[in-house]
Amino acid sequence: MAKKTIADVADLMGKKVLVRVDFNVPLDDAGNITNDRRIRAALPTLRHILDKGGSAIVMSHLGRPKGDPKKDAPFRMDRAAQRLGELLGKPVQKIDEVVGPHADGAAATLQQGHVLVLENLRFHPGEQKGDAAFAAQLGKLADIYVNDAFGTCHRQDASMLAVPESMKGKPRVVGFLVAKELDILDNLLGSPQKPFIGILGGAKVSDKIGFITSLLSRVDRLLIGGAMTYTFMKAQGQAIGSSRCEHDKLDVARELLSRAEGKIVLPLDHLVADKPEAGAQTQVVAGNIPDGWFGMDVGPKTIDLYREEIKKAGTAVWNGPMGKFEDEPFSKGTRAIAAALAEAKGVTIVGGGETAEAVEEFGLDSRMRHVSTGGGAFLEYLEGKSFAALAQIDDKL
Ligand code: ADP
Ligand code: 3PG
Ligand code: MG
Repeated sequence: MAKKTIADVADLMGKKVLVRVDFNVPLDDAGNITNDRRIRAALPTLRHILDKGGSAIVMSHLGRPKGDPKKDAPFRMDRAAQRLGELLGKPVQKIDEVVGPHADGAAATLQQGHVLVLENLRFHPGEQKGDAAFAAQLGKLADIYVNDAFGTCHRQDASMLAVPESMKGKPRVVGFLVAKELDILDNLLGSPQKPFIGILGGAKVSDKIGFITSLLSRVDRLLIGGAMTYTFMKAQGQAIGSSRCEHDKLDVARELLSRAEGKIVLPLDHLVADKPEAGAQTQVVAGNIPDGWFGMDVGPKTIDLYREEIKKAGTAVWNGPMGKFEDEPFSKGTRAIAAALAEAKGVTIVGGGETAEAVEEFGLDSRMRHVSTGGGAFLEYLEGKSFAALAQIDDKL
C-alpha cells in the first residue's frame, strides 16, 4: 500500500510540522561533518514545508551517544543544524534540549517559514526505549508528523514509531526522500532488468548474511570483494595469509556457497600487503594468499572480470567496498567498480554507508541511477523486511 507523502497534505499554511530526518552523518575526530549527503537529501521535504507556509521542527539522532556528556559532545546537533541553515540559505534555530520547557517554548513561538532543530534524540533515554511518555512530549509540539529518515526506517526508536503513534488523528506522512527511496527500490529491484547482478563487499559476512541469502534467490550472479572474500576463501579451504577472516562464520560461508549454485563469484586475484596499512609493500597474487600477507583489495584480473559482468548487466546493485579504499593504495578495486557502474547501460543502484561515501568521493554519485541514503535500512529493505515505522504512516486512499 502506498503511503501518503507531504505533498498529500492539502494545507500547510501556518502548520507546525515535526520532521524525523536522518542526520546521522559521518564526523571526523574533531566532530566536523565529513559528508553532508543525508542533510542535503532532506532539503526537498523541508523546502516544501517552508514554501507552503509551514514551519519545521527537525529531529534526528547522531551517532551512538553513551550518556556521558563529555564524550557525547561531538554528537550534539549544532553542526548539523548549522549545515542545514547554510544549505537552506536561512538561519536555523537549534536548542540544546530534546523535550522539555525549552523545546515546548521554542516550538510554540516558531514562526511560519522557520526551522527549529532539536538536540540529538539519543541524548534522551526514551528515544531508544521507544518510551510512550517521551514520544507524547514530542508529538504535542506539532500538527503534522513526517518521516523522512529513510536511513533509520529499520529502527523502532520512539521518534520512528511511538511519536507517530502518539499523533493519531493528525496527518502522518512520509517525506520526499523516503517516498523516493521506497519507490526506486520497489520498482527497480522488484522487477529487475536481467541479467541482474549483485556486487557485494565490505567488512564482514556476518553483517550481511540475510542480505546475501535474499540476493542469492534473485540475482543471476553475486560478485564478491572486500574483506568478506577471505572468509569465503577460507571456507573453501584456500590459504588467506593474515587477511581478515571471521573464523566463527566459516560454516555460514560454506552453507551460502553451497546454496548459491555457482552464482557466487570470488575474486581471481588479490592485492596483498605485508602490513594492513598504506605504505606497506604490496604484490598481486592469484589464488592462495601467502603466509604473513594481508588481502587488501581485489586484483587486476578480478577488476577486468567484474567490469565485464557489470557491462552486461541489466540491473546491478552494489553494497560494500572492494577493499580498504580509505587508504589510496588499496582503493583501485572500489574505484574501478564505481567507474564501471557509472558507465554501465543497465540500472545501477548503490547502498551502504561506506559504499555511498566512496562513490561520492570519486565524484560518480550523479552517474548512478540511485545512491541510497540507507546503510542498514537499505540492506534490510532489499532483504524484504517490512519497516514497522512505515506502518504508522497514513495509507494513500
Ligand atoms: P557499507 O557501509 O557500505 O555497507 P561495510 O560497512 O560492510 O560497507 O564495509 C566497509 C568497510 O570495509 C570499509 O571501511 C573498508 O575499509 C572495509 N574493507 C573492505 N575490504 C577490506 C579489506 N580487504 N581489508 C580491510 N578492510 C576492508
Ligand atoms: C544508519 O546510519 O544506519 C542509521 O542512521 C541508523 O543508525 P544506528 O545504526 O545507530 O541505529
Ligand atoms: Mg559500514
